[in-house]
Amino acid sequence: MTTATESTATAGLRGVVAAQSSIGDVNGEQGILIYQGYDIHDLAEHSTFEEVIYLLWNGRLPNKTELDEHVSKLRANYAVPDSVISLMKQFPADADPMDVLRTSVSALDFYDKDGHGTDRETATRVAIRLTGQLGTIAAAWDRIRSGKEVVPPDPGLSIAENFLYMLRGEKPDAEEARMFDICLILHADHELNASTFTTRVVAGTLAGMYGAVTAGIAALAGPLHGGANTNVMKMLLEIGDLDKVDEWVDKALAEKRKIMGIGHAVYKTEDPRATWLRKFSKKMAEKTGVTKWFEMSQRIEKLMQEKKGMYPNVDFYSASTYYLMGIPLDLYTPIFAVSRISGWTGHILEQYANNKLIRPRAEYVGPRGLKYVPLDQR
Ligand code: COA
Repeated sequence: MTTATESTATAGLRGVVAAQSSIGDVNGEQGILIYQGYDIHDLAEHSTFEEVIYLLWNGRLPNKTELDEHVSKLRANYAVPDSVISLMKQFPADADPMDVLRTSVSALDFYDKDGHGTDRETATRVAIRLTGQLGTIAAAWDRIRSGKEVVPPDPGLSIAENFLYMLRGEKPDAEEARMFDICLILHADHELNASTFTTRVVAGTLAGMYGAVTAGIAALAGPLHGGANTNVMKMLLEIGDLDKVDEWVDKALAEKRKIMGIGHAVYKTEDPRATWLRKFSKKMAEKTGVTKWFEMSQRIEKLMQEKKGMYPNVDFYSASTYYLMGIPLDLYTPIFAVSRISGWTGHILEQYANNKLIRPRAEYVGPRGLKYVPLDQR
């Protein structure tokens, strides 16, 4: 029998190249992230989330007419069928928002005729629909579970503005809306991460986009993937104060506990998305006058660099940024999905366009040649 140490299988598929893609690339040594050839810093500085969605799906930036048409299609698809909102109203009020998102996206499939089509035109139509609707579902759930009226989407607003508007019932100011829009740009794609790989595996069977995205949401919900941002804020709240940080970090490291939002499977230097989120955490601290979460985060970052040579990832400063925007902790991962839907659907379109069923092999390490023993002789 082959033992685990002699295995030829690659644990966690680390370093295995499983697909060709032109959507995004991560250079972990140099801390560079690109979408379709454009550096993430360039896009965060100059672009909008809607334009980035077009870029991810089409491989190039749109001209003015194309962008206008793309934006109006997205906005025309913000609304979620009443039947799905009614269904959500029957969910238990303490349901996890990621579970609600997963079940609601799965249910949307019932209300989209021809939603299983894998040709470019049909799949793009579904991608537009889902990208428009995800924020509506996440915000509606927060209203429903708190016993508040659902705020219908406003087709005059961007995806970022609209999410904050539907969540709070008030439009965000321009500065906050832009910050949130950049947060969506930063989370849009990250090559073959676990949830994106999941969507490609499902799409590779030529199952429809609703099924593939439902599976992607299930993968993103896991604590080793999208769940870390919420855990960063829980950690900051648990520590409670700047002067408790050093002692808390020392104790956590002595107990071999991981500090949430620090370290990355690919980046060996600063995650370029963290550079922006650090700025936003600081800006929100200045804007609200509540500086302690940013100061605590900075101290943790410094200690982890000194003690472990580790850097913050995308989740580290997004936690305090969202917290000061007044967003409930358990919506941080759904926000990740509201953005990552663009990358997922881009990868699904790419998979459909040049499909090959994804079917790897397992290295069999069980016994062979056993003979069936009747039940009464076992
Ligand atoms: N805090 C403290 N120590 C950490 C750490 C962290 N956040 N991340 C890694 N380490 C340590 C491990 O304990 C291990 O130490 P050891 O060699 O003494 O056992 C070493 O660094 C390597 O850890 P490993 O988990 O194998 O690294 P990885 O590169 O596979 O893991 C993560 C990457 C992201 C899973 C890991 O850094 C982590 O769990 N971070 C916290 C969760 C998080 O923020 N996830 C979101 C990622 S975007």
